[in-house]
Amino acid sequence: MEKEKKAINQLLDIDNFFSGGFAVKGEGISQKLESSEDEAEKKISSVHAETTETENELSKSEQLEKIAEEVKVCTKCNLSQTRTFAVPGEGNPDARIVFVGEGPGGDEDKSGRPFVGRAGQLLTKIINAMRLTREDVFICNVIKCRPPNNRDPLASEKDACRDYLYRQLAVIEPDIIVALGSHAAKELLDTDTAIGKLRGRFHDFTIKGGTETIKFMPTYHPAYLLRNYSTENRKKVWDDMKMVMQEIGIKS
Ligand code: URA
Ligand code: SF4
Repeated sequence: MEKEKKAINQLLDIDNFFSGGFAVKGEGISQKLESSEDEAEKKISSVHAETTETENELSKSEQLEKIAEEVKVCTKCNLSQTRTFAVPGEGNPDARIVFVGEGPGGDEDKSGRPFVGRAGQLLTKIINAMRLTREDVFICNVIKCRPPNNRDPLASEKDACRDYLYRQLAVIEPDIIVALGSHAAKELLDTDTAIGKLRGRFHDFTIKGGTETIKFMPTYHPAYLLRNYSTENRKKVWDDMKMVMQEIGIKS
């Protein structure tokens, strides 16, 4: 009984924190830029990007759709035999922030959408607390199909799936990648360092074959936060997200 009560109180606490005074719904990310000069610059470059893309090739959204179509019918590893739906990812093709999780869980496997279960609901609250919506950002996973019983993905499965994530990142070209949990952080930074040591600062990330450096922020996975709830862990995640907000120009 006591244990249950504690768990419920922790959930209420986490809920209050991330839904509290921070959440502002409905404003697009472009309105959050502090400097109008920055904004003007972004607009100019995005206009340029659009003209070249529509003239010569597929738009970002069409390119992402093409990758998603491939993922949905992919049979490159055995997870294709046990999945219900593959989960390519979703969000804004022009997102400045991409959140990368580990892989689909049960709810995601049933719906084909990323981060819709309990951990996903917490991620949505964190995104809202950052004064953003899920539609402002892009959300995806390292591995696109659910491993049976939510076991860790095998190295061979990650090898088979890697290309999809890198292609998505190359299309979106975000300013910031947030890695949710150790699997995403280790996969993308190619390191064995624990997430607790990696989080709390930006790392440099370069998309394979690319030249631009992307700021990379590892943080705890929302499922970890639900399992190991403490105000200290919650603060760590929020501190990481405040650094992301500052980098993007959102006042916290
Ligand atoms: N956990 C993840 O890492 N990804 C999801 O999409 C859902 C839960
Ligand atoms: Fe293909 Fe990745 Fe799914 Fe394996 S996990 S079947 S590589 S999409």
